[in-house]
Amino acid sequence: MNQFSRRIFVAGNWKMLTTPAEAAALVKALKVKVVNIHQTEMAVCPPFTNLSIVAELLKGTAIKLGAQNLFWEEEGAYTGEISAKMLLGAGCEYVIIGHSERRQYFGETDATVNRRLKRALAAGLLPIVCVGETLAQRQAGETEKVVETQVRGAFAEISPADFAKVVIAYEPVWAIGTGVNATPEQAQEVHAFIRRLLENLYNRELSAGCRIQYGGSVKPANAAELMRQPDVDGALVGGASLQAESFAAIIKTAEDLDKG
Ligand code: 13P
Repeated sequence: MNQFSRRIFVAGNWKMLTTPAEAAALVKALKVKVVNIHQTEMAVCPPFTNLSIVAELLKGTAIKLGAQNLFWEEEGAYTGEISAKMLLGAGCEYVIIGHSERRQYFGETDATVNRRLKRALAAGLLPIVCVGETLAQRQAGETEKVVETQVRGAFAEISPADFAKVVIAYEPVWAIGTGVNATPEQAQEVHAFIRRLLENLYNRELSAGCRIQYGGSVKPANAAELMRQPDVDGALVGGASLQAESFAAIIKTAEDLDKG
């Protein structure tokens, strides 16, 4: 928690990994390791097929459940898609929207991010909206321009009351799964930029209250220096969330931070 009541939030994105049996084993191992975590908010985001089994195992723990995507229509003939109501029914509180892998491989655009975001909010799911530049964009000096376009696109027509429920994840594409994390300075710079932009789009209070996670090669060894940055309010963890040991270590690091 910091002076703006931004509770540190560490979430694990399991991506397209884990069978039901593997997911059960992972969450069983994780929950015993985090029984003493009280300040830090925790969530895991398994694949759709493992949501129900993980929800069952998370009962009575402080670990929350999230999904990795949703479709924007309420229901109907959309073969292969998953609705907000299905996610809520499976026990989800959170949903990741606009992950760069969805933008890269599945045609996600700022406009479809916006549609998914509207549906999530209307249904009562808490969105984690991902933004971030590619290596080429960073090298071309376009980081702020790209992130600004993504943020403006995602939050078009989103009311202040709805915006207050949103978590943002800054995930530089070049840092995802590469082992090369953004330096704490690079992360802080973009997080502060996003916060200034949010102040423009909404107001000072909503901007100061919005949690912005960092994602991209977060591991126990770099978690403290990243999450210690004033505008970094936690982490969205991929690879290191697939092992109970390393994910719990990142959570403990968050819990031990004193961000006054
Ligand atoms: P890695 O932690 O594996 O780099 O993945 C980050 C990510 O994409 C989380 O959504």
